[in-house]
Amino acid sequence: MRVGFIGTGSMGSILIEAFIETKALLPSQIHASNRTFDKVKALAKRYTGLHAYPSNVRVVQRADIIFLCIKPLEFQTVIDQIKDEVHEEHLIVSITSPVEIKDLERKLKAKVAKVIPSITNSAGRGASLIMAGERLTERDKDVLFQLMKSISHPLWLDEKYTRISADIASCGPAFISFLLQRMIDAAVEETGIPRDKAVTLFTQMMIGFGALMAKNKFTLESLQERVCVPGGVTGVGISVLEREVDDMFHKLFKATQLKFNEDVELVQEMFYKTST
Ligand SMILES: NC(=O)c1ccc[n+]([C@@H]2O[C@H](COP(=O)([O-])OP(=O)(O)OC[C@H]3O[C@@H](n4cnc5c(N)ncnc54)[C@H](OP(=O)(O)O)[C@@H]3O)[C@@H](O)[C@H]2O)c1
Repeated sequence: MRVGFIGTGSMGSILIEAFIETKALLPSQIHASNRTFDKVKALAKRYTGLHAYPSNVRVVQRADIIFLCIKPLEFQTVIDQIKDEVHEEHLIVSITSPVEIKDLERKLKAKVAKVIPSITNSAGRGASLIMAGERLTERDKDVLFQLMKSISHPLWLDEKYTRISADIASCGPAFISFLLQRMIDAAVEETGIPRDKAVTLFTQMMIGFGALMAKNKFTLESLQERVCVPGGVTGVGISVLEREVDDMFHKLFKATQLKFNEDVELVQEMFYKTST
């Protein structure tokens, strides 16, 4: 299997590193290009055998599965460059949520899928989301699933749930980091605990929490019940959270959905109003 990557920015390089580090792929199976060639050259220097090209067309000519790790408004340029080289047997995988599978199927002869990875996949953990277009065979689906399984917990998903699933699996680590940072700030400001001690305590708590969840010993509800002893301190804290969190997450998901809808519109404009 020869796997291509067009775009080796943040997520493209995370995927490449994760596939190599988990030994799902050998560097020699990877063919990659990036607009700024130095970025992909640096990866080839780090992973001997990885094929780096200054041209996206070369990736398409050399690979069977091609991950498009570019931003939404960069798609039309890349499609214009590669479309004549893409054939029916290629499997094109977009990692960009507002670019819809049906639009890529209209523009390319290939089989098309969408995968939403997460920064957690760089630790071989966390979920990834997979959506398959109509042209994929059962074998294609299996190959893609196994590839993503080597670095994550993959989940098949209906494309209509792209945004909310990406909010949880992909944006989630940033949201949780933000909340933890605010908890650390408050702990330091309210009590004077040294910041480095608070950071270690919170980080270790999160690692322990993840490990506990992975063991399926508790559900989220039963964990709260177990920690919350009657008349204890945890319950007092939970009451504050209940009061203060209120509809904060509703507002968050409404805002991300709104931004997503705007992005989808911009992509549609790019594909169908400005292109020939
Ligand atoms: N970051 C995440 O956690 C995450 C998670 C899931 C999905 N995604 C999605 O992944 C996509 C990429 O995100 P990112 O964070 O990796 O962005 P990024 O760091 O900006 O990477 C995009 C890369 O694409 C390259 N590129 C742009 N136009 C190109 C072209 N015509 N030919 C070849 N390469 C080109 C850029 O090259 P230059 O070096 O020249 O800029 C850059 O290295 C986005 O749609 C994002 O929504 C990201």
